[in-house]
Amino acid sequence: MEDENLERLISAKEANGDNTLDTTLRPQAITDYIGQDKVKESISITIEAAKGRNEPIEHVLLYGAPGLGKTTLAHLIAREMGANIRVTTGPAIEKSGDLAAILSNLEEGDILFIDEIHRLNKTIEEILYPAMEDYALDIIIGKGPGARTVRIDLPKFTIIGATTKVSLLSAPLRDRFGVHHHLNFYEPEDIQRIVERSAGILGVDIDRDSSIAIAQRARRTPRVANRLLKRVRDYCAVKGDGRLNDPVCRAAFDMMEVDELGLDHVDRRILETIIDKFGGGPVGLNTIAASTGEEMSTVEDVYEPYLMQLGFLDRSPRGRLVTRLAYEHLGRQKPGQDSLV
Ligand code: ADE
Repeated sequence: MEDENLERLISAKEANGDNTLDTTLRPQAITDYIGQDKVKESISITIEAAKGRNEPIEHVLLYGAPGLGKTTLAHLIAREMGANIRVTTGPAIEKSGDLAAILSNLEEGDILFIDEIHRLNKTIEEILYPAMEDYALDIIIGKGPGARTVRIDLPKFTIIGATTKVSLLSAPLRDRFGVHHHLNFYEPEDIQRIVERSAGILGVDIDRDSSIAIAQRARRTPRVANRLLKRVRDYCAVKGDGRLNDPVCRAAFDMMEVDELGLDHVDRRILETIIDKFGGGPVGLNTIAASTGEEMSTVEDVYEPYLMQLGFLDRSPRGRLVTRLAYEHLGRQKPGQDSLV
């Protein structure tokens, strides 16, 4: 139970409870959206140009690590376009009939947001091609030699696809998106501004040191920042006087076992396992997963990207390697290094 909570805390993957949090804190206008300046500017131009032509915008592909605001951006695009947004996910569209039902219910200018679009199956993808390119739905009626295709025209609409793994998208699907945007990890100053904005919305009395302390531990990810803010607020309400200041924050983070770089006990276990059992690496992802008791996809999607961002983990063709920086952070000596240096 405790483990589960800790994992959820710093994991950028969406967890129960995030939905309400995300909705409350989600910016309502593109001007309220902090960070990702290049993406924002480019999207604003696309929107303005499409509005000027009185047309829906081109299909947009958003990719980047979990928790960076792909869904938020999709909602903002819809809002700025004055369009309705329908939301679904790749794995939720199981049968071709599911997609046909969604597409045939769209109206002119609607936006269809498909999260985790890399998880769409091949048959469904093939229905999507003519829908994206020609606004047409090809339906096969009957079976065997007598089967025939009927083409149904669709209104002009926009698909916004989001994925954490753009490399898993097939080339034909990727190419049908006119606009591609990569969301990067946020600048620490932007995360701090997000913490302050969220604290304002939640009515939390927070000082500057605390917003910096939270931002420092948020793994450059808004979803993690908002989740940490909420946990620290709860801690402070119970153990403090309701005002967030540096000592209360530090005590809360100690309790949560989140260190000053935002690493939790799983990050540390991954690094220590590679150091203690495999001499610092190289070691394969599956071996790391098996020896830490984590799922391979969790290690790869949740833990590794940030450890690599920090320069604590390197990837090589022979596997993962722990770097000198990681040894230093853990207070360990890298073998072969002079202890006096
Ligand atoms: N909440 C979550 N992400 C945000 C962002 N990028 N800007 C403002 N508030 C946010």
